[in-house]
Amino acid sequence: MTQASAVAHANLAFVKYWGKTDPDENIPTNNSISMNLSAAQTFTTVTFDAAQTADHVLLDGQPASAKFTARVTKHLDRLRTRAGVSYSAIIQTRNTFPAGAGFASSASGFAALTVAAAAALNLTLSEKTLSILARKGSGSACRSVPGGFVEWLAGTCDTDSYAVSIAPAEHWDIVDVAVVVSTQEKAVSSSGGHALAKQSPFWSARLAQMPDTLERTRRALLDRDFETFGRMIEQEALSMHTVMMTSAHEADGAWRSGLYYWLPDTLDLIAAAQQWRSDGLPVYFTLDAGPTMHLICPAEYETQVIEAVQERQKARGWSILVNHPAPGAQLLPDMLEK
Ligand code: PMV
Repeated sequence: MTQASAVAHANLAFVKYWGKTDPDENIPTNNSISMNLSAAQTFTTVTFDAAQTADHVLLDGQPASAKFTARVTKHLDRLRTRAGVSYSAIIQTRNTFPAGAGFASSASGFAALTVAAAAALNLTLSEKTLSILARKGSGSACRSVPGGFVEWLAGTCDTDSYAVSIAPAEHWDIVDVAVVVSTQEKAVSSSGGHALAKQSPFWSARLAQMPDTLERTRRALLDRDFETFGRMIEQEALSMHTVMMTSAHEADGAWRSGLYYWLPDTLDLIAAAQQWRSDGLPVYFTLDAGPTMHLICPAEYETQVIEAVQERQKARGWSILVNHPAPGAQLLPDMLEK
């Protein structure tokens, strides 16, 4: 029996990945830049056991769905093949953040699973190889392997598409005040959305702009130039959502003009962020494939931003999760012993 445990953080993209050149291998069309999120962790313990006849996945102590278990098994098969073994495992995993809160638990989940399973199989793999493996499980999981601020190098094939750290977590204390306005499951998954991106007439315009977006955002991040950084990330999020909203497709037997991931409260917070800025608060936003609002500010303004959100929410039942930059995926002393 061999066992190992790991922790990984979900990540938030400042330059987004939307669209794939190879959906089977999760090769993205463009590079993306992200930050690991301190409050959004997945802890995973993998125990390989020759006596086990099938993989058994426990999510927060409860047996996981057949669909989730099949995805985990497919991923463990990649590691088993590398190690030349065939035995099954018990996988215990838990998240510190609620499902459906707008953080990709698949990113932290597949990063932690990859790191724990590799160690449990006595595989010594480089960060690059771990990132490549995590990517196969879930695209953005490759960005949760390296630490702090990360760039996913899109590459063209399996061996050259992986993420690297461009600055450690300590480089810049900016904060993501995430405002969860709804925990309802989204109508179209991000995988479904990636496949529709090319339907948008604005897709090519987004890609033409991408080298400049990446260069300017990376530079502002490395220079800790918050104003330029904020402007870049807000425009970039809206560029992705423009593509989403104009990706025409058929669903439930009817034509749809595009994908709408926002809710009325998201729009309310977009207007609020712009107003807060006029009032002198340095805060910009980004949005992923969901209604959760990510308000980004320098750490010294965290309390003011939280207070502004609390004042605005009245009785709307929003919840707030505050994230600082966090390290990459790490092995842990065995959690089950405790
Ligand atoms: O990794 P996926 O398939 O959940 O796609 C993530 C897509 C976005 O969150 C919208 C953007 C990104 O780069 O994280």
